[in-house]
Amino acid sequence: MDTGTTSKEITLLAIESSCDETAVAIIRGTTQSPFTPPRLLASVISTQILLHREYGGVVPELASRCHSTALPRLIRDACHQAEIDPTQVDIFAATSGPGLVSALLVGNTTAKALSAASGKPFVSVNHLEGHLLSPFIGLEEGIIPHLALVVSGGHTLFIDVQGFGNYTLLGRSLDDAAGEAFDKIGKMLGLPYPGGPEIDRLAEKGNPKAFEFPRALIKDPGIDVSFSGLKTAVLYTLPKLTPSSDPHDLPDGVLCDLCASARQAIVDTLTIKAFRAIQKTGHRVLALSGGVSCNALLRQQLSEQCYRKGIRLILPQPQWTTDNAAMIAFAAYHHAIHGQFHPLEQDVDPNLKLANAPNRSKTEK
Ligand code: KG4
Ligand code: ZN
Repeated sequence: MDTGTTSKEITLLAIESSCDETAVAIIRGTTQSPFTPPRLLASVISTQILLHREYGGVVPELASRCHSTALPRLIRDACHQAEIDPTQVDIFAATSGPGLVSALLVGNTTAKALSAASGKPFVSVNHLEGHLLSPFIGLEEGIIPHLALVVSGGHTLFIDVQGFGNYTLLGRSLDDAAGEAFDKIGKMLGLPYPGGPEIDRLAEKGNPKAFEFPRALIKDPGIDVSFSGLKTAVLYTLPKLTPSSDPHDLPDGVLCDLCASARQAIVDTLTIKAFRAIQKTGHRVLALSGGVSCNALLRQQLSEQCYRKGIRLILPQPQWTTDNAAMIAFAAYHHAIHGQFHPLEQDVDPNLKLANAPNRSKTEK
């Protein structure tokens, strides 16, 4: 593909299948400079949440089987929505990690097969880069320097972003990711999977000061966070509130107070560390992404504090917060306009990393 001086229109189809959502998106843009935002022609998604709910979490074998049955229809639907024929696709892309290996393989192999059969190039996308760039979908300016807070079910990352492909990890969760903490606490409280949205909903009716839950590492000068202590605190609080220790015996008001207090502890921790990272880097822009970026309190608290401190906050549109293929297509498009394509032999990687951590100073733990 010509990515040289002449401008060319490219149509790219991307597949996401790293966990429990199967998704396909089609994006169209040009290789011209300066950057013009690509147009999203289609985005379709099939969620498996109800299927996994029965088991209280994602069952990898079920997830991959569902991806493989859903994908052919989703590819057809996406092409229909975009009003294109699959032969009009110039580039195929797929998530290659991190995620569940058997789930990743389904989307990845499908995109590679389409690429091999058509002779069109393939782009391999890091799922976390998809989340990281998702707040910039549709923005005229492209990827501007910023502090990124990526909060998903599997990751909590504070990243110094200087531009596309230039990412330095400043901090992360040392144990559970923020979404994982929400989901595990939700399970302890007898809430359906995933716990994050349920806790967020019930917390609106509760008192965030009712229980004094820990905000680990907030006095530590570093940017890392930890949520395992919060999980244990909720576990030890339960038997004190109900003799049976069965969360279903909790009065509604107490359940809402527990949700509000746990949510406040997670959001306070993320807010404090995000502003510490901003102070360290000197960034004037904060971008939030990942499934937990739907959280109402996190959005509200960051908005208020950014406004007060004169920091620009970029939030993803709600439909691009949880897993989707539009963010994978958007990231793949950036790789393509930078001439970055990948061999079909490249394997998926369930532990794929996004950015390297810098050497720490001696004062930091
Ligand atoms: O980004 P995502 O769709 O998947 C991963 O890449 O992990 O994030 C899913 C996570 C789940 O842990 C879910 O509980 C959490 O995002 N989540 C929320 C909310 N909506 C989704 N957590 C807190 N509040 C929400 N409103
Ligand atoms: Zn995700």
